[in-house]
Amino acid sequence: MDSSFRTPEQDREFMKAWEALKQQADNTVSDRILDYFSSEPGRLGDMTASCGDLTLDYSRSAMSLKVRDELLALLKHSGLDAARKAMFGGELLNNTEQRAVLHAALRGSARPTASGLGDIIGEVDAALDSMTRVVQRLHSGSWTGFDGQPITDVVSIGIGGSFLGPEVVVEALRPDWHDGIRVHFVANVDAADILNTLEGLKASNTLFIIQSKSFTTQETLTNALTARAWFLGDASVGALDDSAEALGKHFIAVSSNVEKAQAFGIDPENILPMWDWVGGRYSLWSAIGLPIACQIGMPLFRKLLQGAAAMDEHFLTAPLEENLPALLAMIGIWYNNFKNIGNYAIIPYDQGLNDLAAHLQQVDMESNGKSVQRDGKPVFSQTGTIVWGGAGTNGQHAYHQLIHQGTRVVPVDFILPLRSRQTGRPLSERIGIEQIQKHHRMLISNCLAQSQAMLTGKSLEQARQECLNAGMNESEAEQLAPHKVIQGNKPSTTITVPEVDAFTVGQLIAMYEQRIFVQGVVWNLNSFDQWGVELGKQMCSSILPLLEGGTDASELALDPSTAQLVQAALEAN
Ligand code: F6P
Repeated sequence: MDSSFRTPEQDREFMKAWEALKQQADNTVSDRILDYFSSEPGRLGDMTASCGDLTLDYSRSAMSLKVRDELLALLKHSGLDAARKAMFGGELLNNTEQRAVLHAALRGSARPTASGLGDIIGEVDAALDSMTRVVQRLHSGSWTGFDGQPITDVVSIGIGGSFLGPEVVVEALRPDWHDGIRVHFVANVDAADILNTLEGLKASNTLFIIQSKSFTTQETLTNALTARAWFLGDASVGALDDSAEALGKHFIAVSSNVEKAQAFGIDPENILPMWDWVGGRYSLWSAIGLPIACQIGMPLFRKLLQGAAAMDEHFLTAPLEENLPALLAMIGIWYNNFKNIGNYAIIPYDQGLNDLAAHLQQVDMESNGKSVQRDGKPVFSQTGTIVWGGAGTNGQHAYHQLIHQGTRVVPVDFILPLRSRQTGRPLSERIGIEQIQKHHRMLISNCLAQSQAMLTGKSLEQARQECLNAGMNESEAEQLAPHKVIQGNKPSTTITVPEVDAFTVGQLIAMYEQRIFVQGVVWNLNSFDQWGVELGKQMCSSILPLLEGGTDASELALDPSTAQLVQAALEAN
């Protein structure tokens, strides 16, 4: 198994830089972020960087400019150049599965030169053409179902990377939705998920896209079988002579396992490709993005790809001091490895991006939640960070309390669209554009207030004075004031985009993908396998037969707690 991207010489320098940063962490324990603004007059400009119109202001990070420079020096010795070349050149970066990692080729920014890959660019173009054909037929109403009615509802069935990315993009781009089509997502094996979706649908107007790279994922196949039973259970379908032909008009697939998809009953003409060189969590840019294209059309899907390509280009060419993915990665390394802060929150002030954190949770935690290095040796530091978050302002009335007054530090990435696109929605005329704009001004001011409160906080004296001003006497003020103190000095970054459109969403997601890649290089991980999810899948396939009555529990060496729970489930059913 190949080891690090660092040469032995780089590795020595890397470890030296790592030790120096440890020292910096000790030296700066009592620093206050606010003080950096006075001691470092150029800080705001030096800690603002952009890729086109997307801007990152990380001046409120808990680090001096000196620490920033030392982090970038560490990165220079990390082997990033070699790793970037390997990835974009199509080398087998995923060394435990012997696979290239070429999601960047899907957006046209990788031109792989490694041998044995075949005509990747040609295959990507052909897949885009197939997507275009599907979308054109849907949008023109010429994709008709078994009884000649046009398709109005598309149900995407898939989980993990075959769900999260497409879902967040579809939700983010609601102002761009094509009128005649509504895309739905089903992921969970809990029957509630698919039943909730099917309840509002009619077989004659519904198209299912079975999204599974492997076509072996239990949840997806179970939901696909349920969808098929629902479809075939429709009285009009049941009355047909050839229900298999009808099925062919209502089920398509995106998969690299053509054989299994065909065995399910999908017309080979309607199986769009996926490839080994695209990881599931990086696949929204491939035909796995078909639900996105169905909802917003191919021109905007291509804009999404262009946004991601612009970020790739920036990632490849911008100096590290201005390189957004590199900067975000190193800010995260500083917190995770030197400040002992193991989490970060992604809080977009945009309802459509509510699920961005859920998508990036998979991308980050499935990629970098690892305990061995590329060569199988134990890691030398903490790795993957816990990612969480959700849309502002909702979180302000939920978890922001802990961010402001809790004992843990939660670095936050605030994502702020400067303009709202909601004014373009049909209802805005009836409600009045000014009223819609008012919503957005509130959204912006809330976002700015949160990051400001995290930075400045409220001192005991300010809290005491506030109590007195509210009419309390001295003793009441003394008692209440400590509860109102906000420590402040809590780090955040703010990422602004002009508005949430296909291009900026592409930029944003690619920026985080590359951030995660950079961190994987620093930690010397294979960020592109996910063996950790396998054990649960294996154990599930032994437990399931127990619940189905096919196996005797005593045949399995279950731990006592699992055995008790299996018994409880059997008794309840
Ligand atoms: O959870 C493991 C995983 O393999 C993810 O990496 C992947 O995105 C998901 O399952 C779905 O896989 P598939 O597309 O093969 O159904």
